[in-house]
Amino acid sequence: MTSLLKTEASPYKEIDSEMDKSTDVVWHLASVSHQDRVVANGHQGAVLWFTGLSGSGKSTVANAVDKMLHDLGAKTYVLDGDNVRHGLNGDLGFSDSDRIENIRRIGEVAKLFVDAGLLVSTAFISPFAADRGLVRGLLGDKSFIEVFVDTPLEVCEQRDPKGLYKKARAGEIKHFTGIDSAYDVPVSPEIHVQTANQDVQQCAMQVIEYLKAKGLMN
Ligand code: ADX
Repeated sequence: MTSLLKTEASPYKEIDSEMDKSTDVVWHLASVSHQDRVVANGHQGAVLWFTGLSGSGKSTVANAVDKMLHDLGAKTYVLDGDNVRHGLNGDLGFSDSDRIENIRRIGEVAKLFVDAGLLVSTAFISPFAADRGLVRGLLGDKSFIEVFVDTPLEVCEQRDPKGLYKKARAGEIKHFTGIDSAYDVPVSPEIHVQTANQDVQQCAMQVIEYLKAKGLMN
């Protein structure tokens, strides 16, 4: 018997329900422990979870933070929505269920990166508070740092770096966040940056200062 997962668009989705869940797997203990990696890297692993509207500046600020951390000698990586959707999540669209699956997969990938001792910055709209909450639960409060890139819709729409708001207003793109798809504003993010009032370097410094204050970077 076959079933469809999440979207109907992709042949990858057609799966055998008998094969859905693997029950005969056991966790294999690694020879190099997480703590070994933390010691080698000189810092803890954590996720900087950037969330905000399309065009808010998530990727730009995340990359500026990544560069600063890299220059400080940290082990880092950036997971970016547009890039990940070319590969790992290339089979997902923008329906609510696909966005949920998008964030679930990224949460799991981010967890592996944190286990590897990296400071990983993720830049996904991640519009639903419940999904961000699930990732927080997966990683734990100590390892999940929510960064709300708070840029008003009008400003994002004026920037419109990819011309997508124009298309969404013209009805050429459906389910566009902020236009005809919801965005749940974070209630208590660890870090709140406002790109309409601060430049990229100031926003990035705010994140670095938070990490230093929490002892996650020297
Ligand atoms: S999320 O909602 O599932 O977290 P994600 O961050 O991966 O979204 O991808 C958002 C990017 O996809 C946007 O920056 C934009 O470039 C592009 N995009 C294409 N269609 C849409 C849409 N309907 N809504 C939002 N972003 C879209």
